[in-house]
Amino acid sequence: MKKIPFLELVTPHVELEEQLVSVFRSALKTAGFVGGPMVEEFEREFAEFCGVQFCVGVASGTDALRFALIAAGVQRGDTVLTVPNTFAATTEAISQAGGWPDFVDIDGRTYNMDPQKLQDYLETQCHVDRATGRLLNENTGRPVTAIVPVHLYGQTADMDRILELAERYRLIVIEDACQAHGAEYFSRKENRWRKAGSMGRAAAFSFYPGKNLGACGEAGAVTTNDESIAERIRMLRDHGQAQKYYHDLEGYNGRLDSIQAGLLRVKLQHLVEWNRMRREVAAGYHQLFRPVAEIITPPYEPSSCNAVYHLYVVRSKLREALRMHLAEAGIGTGIHYPVALHLQKAYLGLGHKQGDFPIAEKVAAEVLSLPMYPQLRPEEQQRVAEEVLHFSGRAVAM
Ligand SMILES: Cc1ncc(COP(=O)(O)O)c(C=O)c1O
Repeated sequence: MKKIPFLELVTPHVELEEQLVSVFRSALKTAGFVGGPMVEEFEREFAEFCGVQFCVGVASGTDALRFALIAAGVQRGDTVLTVPNTFAATTEAISQAGGWPDFVDIDGRTYNMDPQKLQDYLETQCHVDRATGRLLNENTGRPVTAIVPVHLYGQTADMDRILELAERYRLIVIEDACQAHGAEYFSRKENRWRKAGSMGRAAAFSFYPGKNLGACGEAGAVTTNDESIAERIRMLRDHGQAQKYYHDLEGYNGRLDSIQAGLLRVKLQHLVEWNRMRREVAAGYHQLFRPVAEIITPPYEPSSCNAVYHLYVVRSKLREALRMHLAEAGIGTGIHYPVALHLQKAYLGLGHKQGDFPIAEKVAAEVLSLPMYPQLRPEEQQRVAEEVLHFSGRAVAM
């Protein structure tokens, strides 16, 4: 029986082969490999796509997040709040920007930051220092200066409430939009839909190959409406120079490769359609999984979100057995992510223990990512659903 992979990246590349190869050809002819018009054009087009004024292309999503935090003013020792159920790059970027990552537990339905728990954290674990006017964490004495909400699996966090708390406590918000290219959020406050990447002071995107908009290698970008942040990131990505060999600050080698920018331009033209196809795949799964509601919980999409389903993540108490069953049937799956970050070896130094973020821990034990990509065919989805039904010991109710 034909295998159904968890992710299939060959088809879109074969379909676009001519256009992609011509990007390589023109780069070879001009030897323009770093910077130049391809990067600038991609930045302009991606900024427009996200509904922001500025986009700065960088070498990866991790660089994007790290640079955005530094450029927005996070200082050494500052506490930066995020969620425990994200990819480790979120906390790596916080630490590497000089910050101290701390966590707020997630909502059990959306798997994104729970604004109520953020409010509880700010109200019960912090106080404003009279002398400096700074918000301090009472246990560590560290200033709390920023929040990184993660738009996990392609669905935006509840940004109205997060932004309202950030404003009240004067916190910087940097969106981790690395999984959410094109996702939308309906802001009740502004009475309009807003794109992921346009709501915080700045936002980070990853163009790792498997993302909704993926390069053919490593790439990332920061989006922002703040010109000074964009300017600082342009320097940070290029060894701190605005003018060649004049280093105004110590920077990094974090530029977006020109060939990747050119390839991303080709693919960006298809992103709206690919996201639409992903939503269609998700709708198909929702429908097919109705009969097995007691075995798996499908993703929950609030009416304020237009998710782009970077991943289609279900939950099951029988996750390991289900995963094995699907593997035996030739169906690929993934786990995003099996261990919450506060329990990872790398972060034991933060001083957290099992039970500190119970929802994130429970979710980590139950999540299973099913095959999801625009080209996944209805009959393949049907087979995934049949195997889930088979696993649950029931006949397909068609
Ligand atoms: C939520 C999240 N943040 C950050 C990153 C980092 O992106 P990159 O791998 O491009 O450095 C990723 C990429 O997987 C991600 O999923």
